Amino acid sequence: MDTVIVNQQSIFVCENRDELSRSLAEMFVNLANEAVKRQDRFTVALSGGSTPKSLYSLLAQPEYSTRVPWAKTHLFWGDERCVTHDSPESNYKMVRESLLSKIQIPADHVHPTTGQDIEPDRAARDYEEVLKLVFQISGEAIPRFDLILLGLGPDGHTASLFPGSEALKESKRLVVANYVEKFKSDRITFTLSLLNSAAHVIFMVSGEDKKEILPQVLQSGQAAYPAQLVRPKDGKLEWYVDQVAMEKVNRPALAGP
Ligand code: 6PG
Repeated sequence: MDTVIVNQQSIFVCENRDELSRSLAEMFVNLANEAVKRQDRFTVALSGGSTPKSLYSLLAQPEYSTRVPWAKTHLFWGDERCVTHDSPESNYKMVRESLLSKIQIPADHVHPTTGQDIEPDRAARDYEEVLKLVFQISGEAIPRFDLILLGLGPDGHTASLFPGSEALKESKRLVVANYVEKFKSDRITFTLSLLNSAAHVIFMVSGEDKKEILPQVLQSGQAAYPAQLVRPKDGKLEWYVDQVAMEKVNRPALAGP
């Protein structure tokens, strides 16, 4: 794995998706144990989509699952589709099948959205209440996740913050229902306020369909895409990408292994 610095951002470039998943799994194990050692708890928001699925499947393997303090880990979803949890579209279903069904984690540490298929706005507000309860905060305070995993869409979206969507303007809420024109449907998504309060945000980007968008997101000065608006105020932002997605990124001198 090479490390490249682009616009002061650390980019970990992996040979392929397998190495990407393994590097991410190691990072997940390390961050989980550091957080538990520091504060006796690890809070993480998972991404949906296909890229992270291989990471979740790997974390379910004993080589990794036995090294994660699941009993002290709280799992949330950075976004969710407004479908039932049995729908093939559901991010929760994807994580349940690839990870949750294969590990021992307390049921009350797994926090999927609820009611998203019935009333998205209510589901978003309810999810905010769950966040406040688990993070034991109130009022204007914003939960600070130990780790938020994000993907990057070919249009530059992340979580369910799509170009031109209303949620990008939200500055107070933690979670909102966001109407996505291209899908003619709502999504539940973390807002930029919540994303940018994290201690550590990691983008996972892999595949041919990201090689046009990745250089634009990493190298264009103005924030034209939602993913460019993710800048943790007091946290780390890192990219784990594969060679294919990195193909068109102008690489400065490699920062070393
Ligand atoms: C979702 C994700 C979404 C995803 C990107 C990239 O619900 O689909 O949260 O933001 O991360 O669309 O998806 P892939 O990793 O599948 O390309």
